[in-house]
Amino acid sequence: MSAILEVRGISRSFGELKAVDEVSFSIEAGSIVGFIGPNGAGKTTTMRICATLDLPDDGDVFVNGHSVIEDARTARRAMGFMPDSYGAYSNTTVSEYLDFYARAYGLRGRQRQSTVAEVIDFTALTASVGKEMGSLSKGMRQRLCLAKTMLHDPELFILDEPAAGLDPRARVELRELLKALTEAGKGVLISSHILTELSEMCDAVVVIEDGKIRAHGTVDDIVQGIVQHISIFVRTLGEAVATERKILEVPGVLGTRQIRGGVVVDFERGDEGIAHLLKVLVESGMKPVEFATERMDLEDVFMSVTEGIVQ
Ligand SMILES: Nc1ncnc2c1ncn2[C@@H]1O[C@H](COP(=O)(O)OP(=O)(O)O)[C@@H](O)[C@H]1O
Ligand SMILES: [Mg+2]
Repeated sequence: MSAILEVRGISRSFGELKAVDEVSFSIEAGSIVGFIGPNGAGKTTTMRICATLDLPDDGDVFVNGHSVIEDARTARRAMGFMPDSYGAYSNTTVSEYLDFYARAYGLRGRQRQSTVAEVIDFTALTASVGKEMGSLSKGMRQRLCLAKTMLHDPELFILDEPAAGLDPRARVELRELLKALTEAGKGVLISSHILTELSEMCDAVVVIEDGKIRAHGTVDDIVQGIVQHISIFVRTLGEAVATERKILEVPGVLGTRQIRGGVVVDFERGDEGIAHLLKVLVESGMKPVEFATERMDLEDVFMSVTEGIVQ
């Protein structure tokens, strides 16, 4: 399977500052990748290069196999870019705005009408077609901008902080829209400096800081890479002291401590060992009522792989 986006060793400096430093990653069709890092990490610079709006000093980016340097026009046609800020035109309605951009993309006659109708339907803007852009809520405006980005039916979407400033409901709606895009086989690169914004919507994450990639993969992969042991909270019907003593006999246990009437067990990674621990507890008549692995979430991962100040 070929990548819909392949970023190959790009660097970009502004004077002395190396904003992007040998960045490489790729996105497969039908998947959504979160591009996360604190403010100033190099996300926008990387995305602008991917969107043919800036050139790298080194390296290259391929959109659907087309180089953004050698073949920028073809690359551009295969991609839709949503910048982190964009103007709202006053005295322009939603349908006028979309019609204007559809014309700019060279859509004519009935094809233009049906394409505009399709994107309005897809982004659930039907009730707002007659409204002026300036009167739209932030969430509606984001959807309108996404609708505009979809007009030329790109294979790849590059969205710079689209969830910023959205209320929880608008965020869920955005997530649903992006899911529908990936189900239609599109690739999506979406940036944020706030982890929890992206945690539920991404198949994989690329963590960038100080212009460099700190981690790349599924959240689980990244966790595997940085965490040598896991913690399990165990509570039984018996005394915590007795439970703790029994647990300490089990191979793979690195340490224990008592908390909330139970025991937190630091354990070597590996499902077999965890299953064995539970088996020992049951077979020795300990009657476990809670047995919960404490998973790292995206926020913890981010804190572990980046060193700098997180906004
Ligand atoms: N046109 C520019 N001229 C000078 N410095 C820039 C320019 N664009 C970005 N930078 C700097 O490059 C670094 C990365 O910026 P940016 O890519 O916007 O980060 P992010 O989007 O992750 O917040 C920052 O230190 C920023 O100040
Ligand atoms: Mg940015």
